Amino acid sequence: MKIAVYPGSFDPFTLGHLDILEQAAPLYDEICVAILKNSAKRSFFKIEEKAEIIRCCVEAKGLRNVTISSFDGLLIDFCQKLGAGYIIRGLRTITDFEYEQQIHSVNWNLDRQVHTVYFMSNPEYSFLSSSIVRELGSLGADITPYVPAGTVDYLQRRLMENAQ
Ligand code: PNS
Repeated sequence: MKIAVYPGSFDPFTLGHLDILEQAAPLYDEICVAILKNSAKRSFFKIEEKAEIIRCCVEAKGLRNVTISSFDGLLIDFCQKLGAGYIIRGLRTITDFEYEQQIHSVNWNLDRQVHTVYFMSNPEYSFLSSSIVRELGSLGADITPYVPAGTVDYLQRRLMENAQ
């Protein structure tokens, strides 16, 4: 069974993340979207909110082989526990490549049985990031073009709450 983990901060999950998930989903028996819990980076959204937003997208897209979980500690430990042989990551730009190369090297040294597979983002989303969505939303701009359809109202409200 080919099991993959799609890890990230997902603060929040954007159309860019969904694009990568939809590209990867048909190629694996199971993909676990793994939300990072104890990041040094402060998170805006709570794990439960992030998971609910992702669940909403996965259901709307009918991605039946996708599960959602969260993890702390090493990603490689999480992959080993799950029996996952693949890590899915998205690449937007050359800047991503440098960051990803660093993460890959660390993971590669920890476990060479777990392969990282990269998907190029849809060019429409090559500029898109969770931080841009947070910034636009908190400044009152319409985030509809950047986040999955069923999540717009919730995200817009939460981001505006914080701005007030
Ligand atoms: O969405 P992000 O913030 O780019 O995702 C980064 C993530 C979650 C993949 C990375 O920070 C991670 O794997 N963290 C877990 C700790 C770990 O395993 N570190 C070693 C690899 S850098």
